[in-house]
Amino acid sequence: MRVAILSRSRFIYSTRRLIEAAKERGHDVTVVNTLACALVMVDGNFALLHHGQPLERPDVVIPRIGTSITEYGLSVVKQFELMGVPVLNNHRAISLSRDKLRAAQFMASVDLPTPPTVALRDPAGLEGLVAQLGGPPVIVKPARGTQGVGVMLMESVESIRAISETMWGLGQNFIMQKFVSEARGRDVRAFVVGGRVVAAMRRISDESDFRANIHRGGRGQQLTLPRAYSQLAVRASTKMGLEVAGVDLLETRLGPLLLEVNSSPGLEGIERYTGVNVATAILKRAEDLSRRKVRPDITG
Ligand SMILES: Nc1ncnc2c1ncn2[C@@H]1O[C@H](COP(=O)(O)OP(=O)(O)O)[C@@H](O)[C@H]1O
Ligand SMILES: [Mg+2]
Repeated sequence: MRVAILSRSRFIYSTRRLIEAAKERGHDVTVVNTLACALVMVDGNFALLHHGQPLERPDVVIPRIGTSITEYGLSVVKQFELMGVPVLNNHRAISLSRDKLRAAQFMASVDLPTPPTVALRDPAGLEGLVAQLGGPPVIVKPARGTQGVGVMLMESVESIRAISETMWGLGQNFIMQKFVSEARGRDVRAFVVGGRVVAAMRRISDESDFRANIHRGGRGQQLTLPRAYSQLAVRASTKMGLEVAGVDLLETRLGPLLLEVNSSPGLEGIERYTGVNVATAILKRAEDLSRRKVRPDITG
């Protein structure tokens, strides 16, 4: 089959691994640079140019959309959907996963267990909201952050007020969340493909940090997931409409809590620490989906 990987560079680890896996499975693979795509909507037809040339219609698209180009990237993914090409993941699911505030609303609306979360745009009632989260310290995170950047543990109402004013001044939405202290510096990353957990690891932060992200110096450990954890990871990705998802969970005495669901999860850490060939799992799922007829989602 003809596979297109939407990515800005073929040298990124995850992209490179997807190319390798596609070739190993005998596919014809092209890396489509998201920003080199022109989208054509003329006379009710949809087409796509890549570097100015018509792109031969792929059988399946694997989007790897970096956060810096989310907006245009979503339109490119949607164009493929409108052309009837199966995509993993679709633009709507990617969009939802990119905004921690909208994702928190969604998760709560479908009864996924998450840490208590609030959002606000002016300081009225701030102290009361912090109290509802159990009082300081609380977690503050930018709505569109990733890799742990900007995720902060705030120790007092005064500092929360100061950081809030700063974020609002920068036009940044953020969420405030109960700090799950028993999980300090540890979390679980479950990698879900096609409704199944294909690999999982526990991430343990560098001593000094409460964030377990590998990009913040955390290390991983292979992990056999207890059922409650894999079920929650699968339920979360399915509800959000994601075929490929990196689900972050916190471990608590009362079971798993859902932190976030990533729609372009990195392959490097998970493959390194678990030894699982995640790229091949994604390609196998892409093969299944390429055989399906897709009905384009014309809304949103
Ligand atoms: N409510 C919380 N309680 C305890 N630790 C948290 C909480 N929220 C985030 N963390 C820690 O910070 C890390 C980054 O947070 P996350 O919500 O996954 O944002 P990012 O998109 O930047 O990875 C998590 O992996 C976890 O280790
Ligand atoms: Mg995360």
